[in-house]
Amino acid sequence: MNNLFPFESKITKEERYRLLQQRPRVIWFTGLSGSGKSTLAIQLEFQLYAKGYKTYLLDGDNVRGGLNNDLDFSDHSRKENIRRIGEVSKLFLDSGLVVLSAFISPFHEDRDQVRTIVGKDNFIEVFVDCPLEVCEQRDVKGLYKKARTGEVKSFTGISSPYEKPHHADITIHTDQQPVTDSIASLLEFITPKISY
Ligand code: ADX
Repeated sequence: MNNLFPFESKITKEERYRLLQQRPRVIWFTGLSGSGKSTLAIQLEFQLYAKGYKTYLLDGDNVRGGLNNDLDFSDHSRKENIRRIGEVSKLFLDSGLVVLSAFISPFHEDRDQVRTIVGKDNFIEVFVDCPLEVCEQRDVKGLYKKARTGEVKSFTGISSPYEKPHHADITIHTDQQPVTDSIASLLEFITPKISY
């Protein structure tokens, strides 16, 4: 951090909010692979777009193909993955956008770090809660099967831990209700927080 001289934009946060007619937030989806994080984030973003909100979507499978293509699934790399996404989310947040981030983000410590990076009042933690058995049965990407045979190592829920959030802002049980109901609950919870 030596010899760095961060500058301040001439545009204040309030001016940006007024211009965009919204209050930005980071909506952070955490849950097992196959729990429905991306499905919910994609649908929610579309509904927010339809209501005129300016958004940006960050997703594990996409970001790991670009910015984070040097990272594997070791605990250390997952930590770095989430730290970088936290910083990227903060940049988009500062630009005034509503950010939807969908990452397994299996560790408390890393999610707490993101909460600190973006500011606790800006952070909405969505726990996409779905039993491992259901995610494994869905096995949309065929990865659980590969994890069971050992072809895929350190797989979350099978050979790598997932620490459930204790105090998520909202929990969605994707095995108990259709996507439309989950999106309705999310919209009801989030809209008042992002409205200008
Ligand atoms: S995180 O643990 O670092 O937050 P992230 O959300 O970026 O994970 O990426 C998860 C995606 O990577 C999964 O949806 C899956 O498609 C893919 N993946 C490949 N290998 C693994 C693995 N060993 N554990 C979990 N996900 C994996």
